[in-house]
Amino acid sequence: MCGAHRPGPGWKEERVNQDGIRIFTGNAHRDLALDICAELGLPLGEAMVGRFPDGEVDIKVECDVRGGDIFIIQPTCPPVNENIMELLVLIDCLKRASSNRITAVVPYFGYARKDRKDEGRVPITSKLVANLLTQAGCNRVLTVDLHAAQIQGFFDIPVDHLYARSVFTSAVRRMELDRPVVLAPDVGASKMVRAWGKALSANMAILDKRRMAADQTKVENLIGTVEGQDVLVIDDMIATGGSIADAARVAKDKGAKRVFICATHGVLVGDAMRKLAECPADKVLITDTIPHRREDLPGKVEIVTIAPLLARAIERIHRSESVSYLFNSDF
Ligand code: R5P
Repeated sequence: MCGAHRPGPGWKEERVNQDGIRIFTGNAHRDLALDICAELGLPLGEAMVGRFPDGEVDIKVECDVRGGDIFIIQPTCPPVNENIMELLVLIDCLKRASSNRITAVVPYFGYARKDRKDEGRVPITSKLVANLLTQAGCNRVLTVDLHAAQIQGFFDIPVDHLYARSVFTSAVRRMELDRPVVLAPDVGASKMVRAWGKALSANMAILDKRRMAADQTKVENLIGTVEGQDVLVIDDMIATGGSIADAARVAKDKGAKRVFICATHGVLVGDAMRKLAECPADKVLITDTIPHRREDLPGKVEIVTIAPLLARAIERIHRSESVSYLFNSDF
């Protein structure tokens, strides 16, 4: 055998574990990948995910994956383009290494907000990203609270779409809400918020929000009542924090007793930390679909982990069991 073909010093002889399942990650959120592995009782697959001197993604998987059932944990959060590219190159690498099936576990699916042409000469980036993942060789996608559920239809491969509501349950119980009202910060969030209302036996209210620019929104009307009640504002994501801070302020102005916020994805860009710190919410719950250092967050922000939900979903996908079974479980 010529030297170049001999396994290098990092090479692991071990095959995929007995069950055939392997977990890999890029650099987007290694801690989440490790937490999921701990939940599953599996090691994280060894892979070098680095950069060539010119910035191109450089990957070397250090163990045998032939015939394996591969799950790649990689939220496509900021830096979005870097994280998407790592995911695509990882998929290509693992496909060429003869794995049997590749599931992209994308807890936060970036580029989702452009999901239709709402004016002339704009792209549909969520469809583009779906095409890229599929073309790279991805066989399935596992994701959480997509910005719009219909993005699932942009894929011609199976998409398992989880709801983070179940991981918030214990933290919401600790709030001891008094006659709660669930509040949708815009019409787009109303379906998700209705499901919360049903789960909490709570009334629902909706804000009529208008977006003037990517970082500028205005609330025109409140549909419903919040006076004298505890309000739980629910959204899929907090980006610049404008929508959620406005919602908290309007709820308070309309007489809400206390205001709490639950948002699955803490993207937290621009002025978001300041807006959250200054808004009249008592507590803000986000999940760890996107990495944050505790010390960078305002004291009122609490992070709830999504790892157990994703781990149980991975197990179920691997065993070809129902994933919707998890929709009504508490974590
Ligand atoms: C809007 O359609 C989304 O559900 C969120 O409300 C929005 O993307 C949050 O953005 P920001 O925090 O910048 O207002």
